[in-house]
Amino acid sequence: MQPKIKILYTEEEVKKRIAELASEITRDYAGREITLVGVLKGAFIFMADLARGIQLDTRCDFVRVSSYKDDKATGVVRMEFDVTQPIAGQDVILVEDIIDSGRTIEYLKRHLMQGKPRSLKICTLLYKDGNGLREEIDYIGFVVPKRYIVGYGLDSMGLCRNLPYIGYIEG
Ligand code: IMP
Ligand code: MG
Repeated sequence: MQPKIKILYTEEEVKKRIAELASEITRDYAGREITLVGVLKGAFIFMADLARGIQLDTRCDFVRVSSYKDDKATGVVRMEFDVTQPIAGQDVILVEDIIDSGRTIEYLKRHLMQGKPRSLKICTLLYKDGNGLREEIDYIGFVVPKRYIVGYGLDSMGLCRNLPYIGYIEG
């Protein structure tokens, strides 16, 4: 059974914001080729919209990580699978669904830098404020409250990823 969800952003609002991010990226990288690296599974829907809105020569690759949150302070991030093509010399944009503690993105940044990209930026659909990382994130779709967010790729125990809107679980 699906939990009761309070809608934060409708499908129209999300699509409009993603189109804005895509335009911004198109402007910022004008005349260059870029590589989007999506973080599975959560980023798959956002990345599909973003990639189609970007008017540049664009490669798409994916990584998957798992985090063990046995203890909040010591959550360990581990690589499940890596990019399939070398990123050396490329302008890479890491595409995330949501940044909460920032641990996943910090880990992935360090990891991808080892591949010697020409540049590495971060684009996240959602951002939960309060981790002091905001200045380090290059593109943010929406800043959301510190609630459990679902929809548009984000799940609750495997469900809700296919909801076309973004909301939080009430209660
Ligand atoms: P962080 O490492 O704490 O920044 O968490 C990042 C990852 O945890 C995200 O990529 C999501 O997969 C997951 N996550 C964090 N907050 C939420 C949420 O509110 N809803 C669904 N997934 C979340
Ligand atoms: Mg994620």
